[in-house]
Amino acid sequence: ILGKGPFYGREFFVSPATLIPRNETEELVHLIIKENRNAGLKILDIGTGTGCIPISLALEMNNPEVYGVDISEEALQIAEKNGVALAAKVTFSTCDILTQVPEVAELDILVSNPPYIPEQQRSEMHKNVLDFEPELALFVSNEDPLIFYKRISEIGKQLLKPNGKLYFEINENYGNDVASLMQDLGYSEVRVLKDLNEKERMVAGRR
Ligand SMILES: C[S@@+](CC[C@H](N)C(=O)[O-])C[C@H]1O[C@@H](n2cnc3c(N)ncnc32)[C@H](O)[C@@H]1O
Repeated sequence: ILGKGPFYGREFFVSPATLIPRNETEELVHLIIKENRNAGLKILDIGTGTGCIPISLALEMNNPEVYGVDISEEALQIAEKNGVALAAKVTFSTCDILTQVPEVAELDILVSNPPYIPEQQRSEMHKNVLDFEPELALFVSNEDPLIFYKRISEIGKQLLKPNGKLYFEINENYGNDVASLMQDLGYSEVRVLKDLNEKERMVAGRR
C-alpha cells in the first residue's frame, strides 16, 4: 500500500515500512538549510525512512553531496523511489547504526531523527499512529531511550570533519540529556532548540 505525504513543499511516497514525515522534521530541515549556505557540503542522514530529510536537503541546498542510511530495506526502497520521483541526487544504503558505521567520511553535516519514543509511552499514543507506522521507526526501550543519540554522537566524532555539525530531532523530554551527552563527548556550541509549538525539539552541536 503506497500513499503520499507532504514534506517541505513536496509529496513523498510513504508505505507501512516508513514513518509519515512530520512537521517537526520540516523545522529541522529548515534549520539546516538556513545555517549552511556553502556549496558542496557533504551530508549524511541516519534513519532516513522515506528519505524526506536528505532529498529535501539535496534539492534546497547549494550542490551538496548527500547520503542516507536505514536498517530497513523496505524503507530504503521507498527512499530510492522518492529520490527518483523528485530528481534528487542522494546515495542510499543499508546500515544498522547500532552495530555498523556508515562508509562515508569527512562529513560537514550529520543529521538524524532516530527512533525516540520510550515503550512506556506506547499506550498514550493514538491508535491510528500505531496501526499505520512501523514500530522500528518509533520506539526505543525504556531502559536506554537515548541509545541512538549516544551511538550517533560517537559515530559523529569519527565521521564528521573537525567543526562539522551534528543535528538531531529529539523527544521533547530529552533536550538536556542529549545536549549533555554531546558535551561529554566534546561537542562544542551545543544548542537545544524549540519547535513552533514551543517544545524542545532539536539539538545541534559542532564536533
Ligand atoms: C523516527 S524514524 C525517521 C524517518 C525519517 N528520517 C523522518 O524523519 O521522517 C527513524 C528511522 O530509523 C530507522 N532505524 C531504526 N533502527 C535503526 C538502526 N538500528 N539503524 C539504522 N536505522 C534505524 C527506522 O527504520 C526509521 O526509518
